[in-house]
Amino acid sequence: MIKLSYDVKNYRNQILDLTQNGDTIIELGCHVGNTTRILLDNFKDSQIIALDNSPEAISKMNELANDNLEFINADVRLHETLLEVFKKIQKCDILSIDLGGGYHPDTVFKVFYIWSSTFKPKHTFIRNRGILEFFNSSVSSGEDYMSCEGYLDSYHDSGIPPQIKEFELWTPSIKK
Ligand SMILES: C[S@@+](CC[C@H](N)C(=O)[O-])C[C@H]1O[C@@H](n2cnc3c(N)ncnc32)[C@H](O)[C@@H]1O
Repeated sequence: MIKLSYDVKNYRNQILDLTQNGDTIIELGCHVGNTTRILLDNFKDSQIIALDNSPEAISKMNELANDNLEFINADVRLHETLLEVFKKIQKCDILSIDLGGGYHPDTVFKVFYIWSSTFKPKHTFIRNRGILEFFNSSVSSGEDYMSCEGYLDSYHDSGIPPQIKEFELWTPSIKK
């Protein structure tokens, strides 16, 4: 299932509703760990990999890190970051993405596409106003494309190669 939100409380509640103890969780955009802490408290047997590229996140997340939580200070748009995580785990149950509620929806969607195609989560949670607004405002043609998983099922087998090309095409200002 793919769940969208803008309000951070809804984002956290959606995660709490669908996550099960023992699930492997990738959290993109953990900041100083306010959601991560909730995950650690509620899912004691889960393995969590949390990522954020902010310098602010480093000390707080390193304090939180334990046997169940690994923090990686890196840019989740970069292929090398994806690869670093892929070397550790090849699949996750939960993918949560919060790069900032008002963050560029196109970037967030690309990050969703790349990470979900790679790790094939059962459930993905995206906190982004633009994607939610787009979803709430669109009218379907009725063609039957629908995924019950946390990734786009119709791209099931074609995730990773186009993703590498797409990263190359990102503008320098977005790439930093
Ligand atoms: C609103 S905060 C996340 C709050 C957190 N999810 C929570 O529930 O408390 C957004 C975070 O996304 C991080 N972020 C934005 N773009 C990123 C990127 N490209 N790679 C890694 N982290 C990113 C920011 O550094 C920031 O800490």
